[in-house]
Amino acid sequence: MIILAIESSCDETSAAVVEGRRVLSNVIATQIADHRIYGGVVPEIASRKHTEAISRVCDGAVEEAGISYGDIDAVAVTFAPGLIGALLVGVNFAKGLSMSLGVPLIPVHHLRSHIAANYIAFPELEPPFLCLLVSGGNTVIAEVDDYTSFKILGETRDDAAGECFDKTARKMGLQYPGGVTLDKIATVADTAKYPLPFPKSGAGEYDFSFSGLKTAVINLIHNASQKGEQPDVPVICATVRQRVCDMLIGNTLKAAENYGFKKIALAGGVSANSELRARMKAECEKRGLELYFPPLEYCGDNAAMVGVQGYYEYKSGNISDSSLNAVATLPINYR
Ligand code: KG4
Repeated sequence: MIILAIESSCDETSAAVVEGRRVLSNVIATQIADHRIYGGVVPEIASRKHTEAISRVCDGAVEEAGISYGDIDAVAVTFAPGLIGALLVGVNFAKGLSMSLGVPLIPVHHLRSHIAANYIAFPELEPPFLCLLVSGGNTVIAEVDDYTSFKILGETRDDAAGECFDKTARKMGLQYPGGVTLDKIATVADTAKYPLPFPKSGAGEYDFSFSGLKTAVINLIHNASQKGEQPDVPVICATVRQRVCDMLIGNTLKAAENYGFKKIALAGGVSANSELRARMKAECEKRGLELYFPPLEYCGDNAAMVGVQGYYEYKSGNISDSSLNAVATLPINYR
């Protein structure tokens, strides 16, 4: 079954052609340069750029896969969650395409597709497993019971981990996207130099909270500038990264132990973080757990993962008609 998949939930317009878990093409038009001058994603600009790119990106994916539009058996599209105007571009394009080709339309939840990035890289990986989903807008520990069945064990009470990285990085004057830059310039250094808090959720056992750490960094930079001092940015980056990773890794391992999971997967843009990957790998080796994380090319937003998740959604009967709408907020375990 050949699926053309479309992703436009944030600042990447992407289209891919997949056959089951096999990726035949994956074209991404990134808008990073368009948003960089504003220090973050401007939703209206994102929507306009998606509109400009979407036809070209779909044509590119079809061409690169060596097929023609007539070979496509279904169209999959990210419909939630994300920036509403950005999602609408992909959803409406996908609706038109599926109608004109006379093939099914498959709605795909963005976070489910991030998990599916692991299926691309690891053909042997099958549910059940535990997944730490960390992106710019979400931080969730989910039980992946089946390809389309999920249970949320913990989630952030306030900011997402990626948001904490991005906002603290911006305050330190680092280039957008801040999480990437922060990870690059963080030095392995004295993480006790600045008294930044170790986040605690105080809520559910596996929940997260990152806003206290974010505020502490903003205050630290602000106070330093008022005193005319130069903060040691690489050390602050390393400290923030360490504190965030402590919480992500601690909660995930605790959930794995308490629920008896032997397989853990990482997913989402923040799963590209070098410390998170290295420390999780070491901890899982120590405990005899299997760890999976996507190759860097599939960590960020891309349509290949949408296509692969779309394949499983189709198999479970999740098909839409032309009434499909975009949804800005929707939990991964929606029905
Ligand atoms: O999954 P994603 O591409 O988009 C969303 O669906 O949100 O995630 C983007 C997030 C941004 O916050 C970005 O700063 C973060 O992932 N990110 C990183 C790294 N690479 C991307 N955060 C920390 N370290 C990285 N290496």
